[in-house]
Amino acid sequence: MTPSGQVIVTDADVLADAAADVVAREAALAIATRGWCTIALSGGSTPRALYQRLSHRRDIEWSRIHLLWGDERCVPPTDPASNYGMARQALIDHIKMPAAQVHRIRGEDPPQAEAERYDSVVRSAVRDGAIDMVLLGLGTDGHTASLFPGDAATRAEDRWVVAAEFADARGWRISLTAPVLIASRTVLFLVAGADKAQVLADVLEGPDAPDALPAQRIVRGAVDVHWLVDREAASRLTQVPTAGR
Ligand code: 6PG
Repeated sequence: MTPSGQVIVTDADVLADAAADVVAREAALAIATRGWCTIALSGGSTPRALYQRLSHRRDIEWSRIHLLWGDERCVPPTDPASNYGMARQALIDHIKMPAAQVHRIRGEDPPQAEAERYDSVVRSAVRDGAIDMVLLGLGTDGHTASLFPGDAATRAEDRWVVAAEFADARGWRISLTAPVLIASRTVLFLVAGADKAQVLADVLEGPDAPDALPAQRIVRGAVDVHWLVDREAASRLTQVPTAGR
């Protein structure tokens, strides 16, 4: 175990399968322990293959799972940029899950009001104070979910969900905040590609820089962190064996 969690390095073409194994295992454990499981899905492009693998698994009790989102772009669910839209196409449309257990962030609604609404949604969905499993990606600038370096939302401590506006193409984003991500029972980072190699090394093996590297703040605060990374993303790690699946 590295100080920042368990790191599994795999070939790119089996990364999604390895991640699906972890998700299925952790979901089964949560359901066996508490009767249900809450999973906060990540956005971006990397998890699409994972969601497709999950849609084919026969060992996941979707009827006992509540889906949340770690963050969302403030766009309609039909927009190509929508994190919910991607998960719906890759996973939700292919599994039997009660619609009432799919708790999407309503990207089409006014961001500040939606952040307040979603804060209540998350608190009622998790019931006992912690999300069971949070899936996260890693941006080349060290962001995760929609917690970006140096942004006030990244430092939010007094709420579980925050809305933030960015002057560039990011526009408005809604994100779970660091405290609720850190409080989750299991965090699963999925990272692929050579362009993530330096930031992954900085997050996992570099000096403490939580404001500059929001992902590092989550990693160093959470109790159980799993990294599923491909060999290209792991290429600058020095403390992690690169043996993988
Ligand atoms: C988003 C994600 C974001 C993502 C990283 C990595 O809404 O974009 O929540 O945090 O996980 O930017 O994205 P890729 O998987 O596309 O590299």
